[in-house]
Amino acid sequence: MLFLTLLSLITAAFAASPLAGVNIAGFDFGVDITGTANLASAMGPLVTLGGSDGAAQMSHFAKDDNLNLFRLPVSWQFLINSLTLTGGAGNGTGNGTRSNSAAGTLDATNSNKYDQLVKACLATGAHCIIDVHNYARFENKIIGQGGPTNAEFANLWSQLAAKYKNETNVVFGIMNEPHNIPDMKIWAATVQEAVTAIREAGATTQMILLPGNDFTGAQTFVSNGSFGNLSTVHNPDGSNTSLIFDVHKYLDSDGSGQALECSSNNIQDTFMPLSMVLVANKREAILSETGGGNSASCLTDLCNTLTFINANTDAYMGYVGWAAGGFSPTTYNLTMTPLGSAGNFTDQPIVKQCLVGTRMGGGIASKKRTIRRSL
Ligand SMILES: *[C@@H]1O[C@H](CO)[C@@H](O)[C@H](O)[C@H]1NC(C)=O
Ligand SMILES: *[C@@H]1O[C@H](CO)[C@@H](O)[C@H](O)[C@H]1NC(C)=O
Ligand SMILES: *[C@@H]1O[C@H](CO)[C@@H](O)[C@H](O)[C@H]1NC(C)=O
Ligand SMILES: *[C@@H]1O[C@H](CO)[C@@H](O)[C@H](O)[C@H]1NC(C)=O
Ligand SMILES: *[C@@H]1O[C@H](CO)[C@@H](O)[C@H](O)[C@H]1NC(C)=O
Ligand SMILES: *[C@@H]1O[C@H](CO)[C@@H](O)[C@H](O)[C@H]1NC(C)=O
Ligand SMILES: *[C@@H]1O[C@H](CO)[C@@H](O)[C@H](O)[C@H]1NC(C)=O
Ligand SMILES: *[C@@H]1O[C@H](CO)[C@@H](O)[C@H](O)[C@H]1NC(C)=O
Repeated sequence: MLFLTLLSLITAAFAASPLAGVNIAGFDFGVDITGTANLASAMGPLVTLGGSDGAAQMSHFAKDDNLNLFRLPVSWQFLINSLTLTGGAGNGTGNGTRSNSAAGTLDATNSNKYDQLVKACLATGAHCIIDVHNYARFENKIIGQGGPTNAEFANLWSQLAAKYKNETNVVFGIMNEPHNIPDMKIWAATVQEAVTAIREAGATTQMILLPGNDFTGAQTFVSNGSFGNLSTVHNPDGSNTSLIFDVHKYLDSDGSGQALECSSNNIQDTFMPLSMVLVANKREAILSETGGGNSASCLTDLCNTLTFINANTDAYMGYVGWAAGGFSPTTYNLTMTPLGSAGNFTDQPIVKQCLVGTRMGGGIASKKRTIRRSL
């Protein structure tokens, strides 16, 4: 017993903190869960685009909080600018009729706007997740299951990977929150085509995030077939190297990530059992969306969740809070947008206490040991 305690103490003391950071939302605004995008609502979180100062936010999070993982949501439609004439110029000057074609190439203007955010992220030294925020869909149709073909989706990723193949800190987030996927085996084949396209475009080493069903929910990731089916996805050389499972979990009573209050830390029903499956299979996950309001209940629950994640880095290589960027720092329930302005930001309590405060060196290492999975 004493031996075990000492051993765990040593393990905890030397375990590296996982990557940690915040979603910088805005380019995804206007996308709903049917994968329909109202591009008029997209608002890149950059001052140069008339949006909020996402670049300064990331710089602050990196410099003042030592955060090192940002996720940059954007819609497929924005990247190819689907708001152009059918067969038209592709530069947004059309009559607004959607081509409804997912086959398009990256739109130079829009992909360069998004690239400004990616570059601002990379400039902080952090890892930067390119997140195609389409719920496995394009205009209400599921990729590979009635909607765009796998080849069209792979073409999007081939182009993005070619653009970022030299950036080792770019992480390819294949798809945000698939849900109601009729056949997970077919979805795994879709994901496989994207992975192959990314590697063949020359991005051979970067992390790729594999998204599952039920909004890539951590709680049902194993039970509803995501883990099993996505376990077959591989690199061209047959390995699993740098293929990371993408999981989400919100702590409010219905798990939807909208309420100001949290109802559970979800360690016992979600994070503990998932960590055991991951470690048993020598695989890892990134919790790329989690969060809660700046309320007493969420400060307790999310801090406990992230303390657990920080203590189990063999299963979880990182976490990303939802969300800063274009969200109001005062009126959005789950805001992580810092108050103030560039050069004088003040963090939201949920960021300061939970996202940052539970990291190794954050002063509560003893708490971590008490909930470490191996004990
Ligand atoms: C968009 O393309 C059309 C047709 O090629 C061209 O006339 C127009 O100048 C372009 N507009 C912009 C903003 O690039
Ligand atoms: C928009 O342009 C397309 C292609 O030229 C044309 O088929 C369509 O009728 C136009 N729609 C409107 C509302 O003008
Ligand atoms: C990647 O690096 C290679 C070798 O330095 C260079 O030739 C190529 O242009 C770069 N590609 C991109 C997209 O930056
Ligand atoms: C599992 O996936 C199916 C198909 O998408 C879905 O209908 C069902 O609600 C999911 N089950 C759970 C427990 O989430
Ligand atoms: C794949 O997912 C389906 C649900 O869509 C599930 O029934 C099946 O067991 C999964 N396969 C594996 C290998 O986990
Ligand atoms: C890939 O991961 C699965 C579990 O997710 C594992 O069973 C399998 O052996 C791995 N394959 C290789 C080649 O490492
Ligand atoms: C914000 O949280 C409150 C309290 O949990 C909830 O009643 C309200 O519906 C939430 N607002 C939104 C927009 O979801
Ligand atoms: C920084 O922000 C705080 C409160 O947000 C404010 O009281 C203070 O005056 C600001 N300092 C500067 C130098 O702008």
